[in-house]
Amino acid sequence: MMEHAMLRSLFPQLEHSTYLNSCSCGALAQPVIDAVQHYLQLWKCHGGRAWYADGGWLEALDSARAHIAALLGASPHEIALAPNVSTALAALASCMDYAARPRVLTTSLDFPTLAHQWLAKASAGAHCDILPSPDGCTVPVEAFAAVVDKRTALIATARVYFTTGAIQDIVALARLAHDAGALLLVDDYQGTGQVPLDVKEANIDMLVGGTQKWLLGGPGLSFLYVHERLHARLHPSVVGWFGHAHQLDFLLQPWEPRGDARRFELGTPALPAVYAANAGMELVRKTGVDAIRRRVKWLTETLVSGLTEAGFQLTMATDPEKRAGIVMLECPDAQAWVVELARQSIIVDARPGHLRIAPHFYNDMDDIERVLKALKELEWRNAAGIASSSA
Ligand SMILES: Cc1ncc(COP(=O)(O)O)c(C=O)c1O
Repeated sequence: MMEHAMLRSLFPQLEHSTYLNSCSCGALAQPVIDAVQHYLQLWKCHGGRAWYADGGWLEALDSARAHIAALLGASPHEIALAPNVSTALAALASCMDYAARPRVLTTSLDFPTLAHQWLAKASAGAHCDILPSPDGCTVPVEAFAAVVDKRTALIATARVYFTTGAIQDIVALARLAHDAGALLLVDDYQGTGQVPLDVKEANIDMLVGGTQKWLLGGPGLSFLYVHERLHARLHPSVVGWFGHAHQLDFLLQPWEPRGDARRFELGTPALPAVYAANAGMELVRKTGVDAIRRRVKWLTETLVSGLTEAGFQLTMATDPEKRAGIVMLECPDAQAWVVELARQSIIVDARPGHLRIAPHFYNDMDDIERVLKALKELEWRNAAGIASSSA
């Protein structure tokens, strides 16, 4: 990994704040600012010709697919770009034959947009089963095994839960899905960039993610990985001209989808987001996801130990190997705590009943100590406040 002080200096925001909210949005890096400025410069110089310029807009789209493919262990032709995960899911869900296999299995810990996609298709015959979590942290593979059957089209779940940071056994879920003749769709928005993955080794069929969080690219670009063995089998009816086999011939008909995953692409992408994302992904790849995982694990485990010693309750996997860089602290008044911490320039986030703290590779031990100290003080003041008001 690049020398840490040098790496940290790439993030101007870290000079004036303790930023621990990477699972919402990664910190803004100077190369990302420069990349967006470069995009504007291309526009200023070339106008619409910027699409075809050297290093221009079309090339930026190819670079985005190449970065994503490299991060996932896939090939660029297995990657489709989308403005957000929900749009990618809509295109994917439009391929499914709900008469033959109506069931989609997801969990109560997954990001809501996953279940919404299939709950909204009940009138088309889709049946979305939301498996509960017995411990509020994870959903055991056995819970999927107990319900998956030959009417199941998909197991659709996260590798890293946004709710608890718990890492799921995706390899076992892929096996389970395939044994039942179903497919595995992984929502990896909270995994890609912080926990290494090889989609081929894990035998994942389809995966969605985005660049806003661990990939440092800001909002506006997401992606869909579709294993090449599925391309010819999947025929989306939610489509756009970017997915046409002869896009730049501008043919109205016939509708002929591209032969690869790009058949899932719809219309003109948000180019500023693509430039930002490419710079973010480049930084992540230069650093290396293995190195990022080691550092995030070290920071996370130090924070977890400090919080546990101080008596805080955490909603997290018990096995440290199954924890990613999302620390969930039970906190009934989480929103108020987020505001109070922000007043001290410590940026964290809230989810129902919890404070959510997410360190990335640019954080250091001073950040962890600072948030720990601030939380202990808040807890002490809270307790003192309760004692004085009841006295
Ligand atoms: C696991 C997960 N999936 C999906 C999303 C977002 O979906 P979309 O890109 O449709 O806004 C998020 C957070 O924003 C997330 O944490």
